Amino acid sequence: MTKSTDLADLLSDVAGAAFAAQGLEASYGAMRRSDRPDLADFQCNGAMAAAKKVGKNPREIATAIVEAMKASPLVAAAEVAGPGFINVKLSAAALSKRAEEIAADTRAGARGVETPRRVMFDFGGWNVAKEMHIGHLRSTVIGDSLQRLFRFRGDHVTSDVHLGDWGLQMGQLINEVKLEQPDLPYFDAGFTGPYPETSPVSMDDLGRLYPQASAKSKTDEARRDEDRKATQELQAGRPGYRALWKHFCNVTRVGLERECASLGVKFDLWKGESDAEPYIPELVEDLKAREIAEFDAGAWIVRVARETDKKEMPPIILVNRDGAIGYHGSDLGTIVDRKRTVDPQLTMYVVDQRQALHFEQVFRASDRAGLMPESALEHLGFGTVNGPDGKPFKTRDGGVLKLYELIAQADATSLARMQEAELGADVSEAERADIAHKVAVAAIKFSDLSNVRTTNYIFDLDRFISFEGKTGPYLLYAAVRIKSLARRAEGEGVKPGPISIELDAERALVMQLDAVNDALRGAYDKRLPHFLCEHAYSLAQAFSSFYAAAPILVESDPVKKASRLALALATLKQLELLLGLIGIETPDRM
Ligand code: ARG
Repeated sequence: MTKSTDLADLLSDVAGAAFAAQGLEASYGAMRRSDRPDLADFQCNGAMAAAKKVGKNPREIATAIVEAMKASPLVAAAEVAGPGFINVKLSAAALSKRAEEIAADTRAGARGVETPRRVMFDFGGWNVAKEMHIGHLRSTVIGDSLQRLFRFRGDHVTSDVHLGDWGLQMGQLINEVKLEQPDLPYFDAGFTGPYPETSPVSMDDLGRLYPQASAKSKTDEARRDEDRKATQELQAGRPGYRALWKHFCNVTRVGLERECASLGVKFDLWKGESDAEPYIPELVEDLKAREIAEFDAGAWIVRVARETDKKEMPPIILVNRDGAIGYHGSDLGTIVDRKRTVDPQLTMYVVDQRQALHFEQVFRASDRAGLMPESALEHLGFGTVNGPDGKPFKTRDGGVLKLYELIAQADATSLARMQEAELGADVSEAERADIAHKVAVAAIKFSDLSNVRTTNYIFDLDRFISFEGKTGPYLLYAAVRIKSLARRAEGEGVKPGPISIELDAERALVMQLDAVNDALRGAYDKRLPHFLCEHAYSLAQAFSSFYAAAPILVESDPVKKASRLALALATLKQLELLLGLIGIETPDRM
């Protein structure tokens, strides 16, 4: 790992040396961005703490530090304020040098982690027989952004979609198909195969059968028992049920893959709850032998409550009383699978906040069983996508909005907005549709990610798809403008040159570019992608002020022109990097 060249770190070194020269600890020299950018670029509050420690006057210490710092070529001005704050304004040379570095860096100034880890992301989590809908958006978009960020920072990331393919719903569906098509060979226990290769049900069929089946299962006790039995038989390996179930999975996957492609989301693994199955018998035997699993009311459970608990903490159900594995058991088995195959040091589950209890139970059970410690398992919960009424979003007729419908609506709205703004007028129809789709995806992802992960937000396509304000389309447009500027410069034979920072707007832009590591670190450490959105937006704004104050192609001084062009290209690189981490692809033109 190379030494940090962030302005804060460079300045902290200078201030630290000054503290050390006073016989004080260098760590008092930590500099951070000033709360008053009109007065200073960076500030240090260490003199107060140092003074307290050694029983001296803080202003006296601060004055000595300021005097020493003034000698550094990084510092244009330094002064003591209030009780002993140290305010520093950077020299133009320091800013120019930092800008040069960012311009030359393929990572646009963004560093990676010191010690990469093996990290696992569990997100997506869609269920077999259900089409992706608006409620699935957040896990997908947040999980994807985080996997991109962790990978970019150097971790060895494995993402798994963890399909819901193994619970009671499967037994319900099998029985529902049986009611409609009882003569299929899947239900004939004496049938020796081979089973038909084409599925007896389409995705539309599944979409109809699933709610039908679960409604019956809820109200009809006898039916529910049948469903439990079918689930247990499926899990125990009854060939006809397995063959039919495989069709359910395959048919569902076609749609899921289409939605993933449309959103630009990729998974390393397309595993499901069912993949935990081979690990379960051994796990159960082991937990019984170690008396961690207890037999209770016909089921095998693991108690996870602790004396210190303030809320109720029910046990997990490892194997239910029909001998079937439910949601708890499959998550525990999946931990075994992952430990043996990927051995992650950290696993993050990007799942609705409403499942917090489930994960707490599973993590505790994993810890108790000695599988993975609780500290290596994290539930990254998120709020719901709501309608204008503040309740989970529903379509006008009260249904759920399917994801492909949502994307189609967003594509159409984007196209209309582009037309209004006279964008994409001189490209082919196919390219215009492609741009509109990129705008749509940018709008959807940015509006989701720019909210703090744990809060709810109101879904409003019209507001999301606007080229003005804090939106994905605004950022795309900002990036595309710089791209077109770069093309024009190239056409005119203008080349980027050494960067020299003169104007205030240039200073502000470099300060913003330099802040990239704060944003990435914040997003990474707290698993909060909105820090990425904030940075991208502030960067686009800083660029826009810079460009207004420092026009490029019309500038008559060739040295200034080349410097500003270089700064613009560095901004573009960093903006595209950020958009990429958010999961947004930038078109070349609009
Ligand atoms: N399929 C689950 C659901 O629809 C979400 C799965 C989340 N991941 C997990 N490992 N439990 O609620």
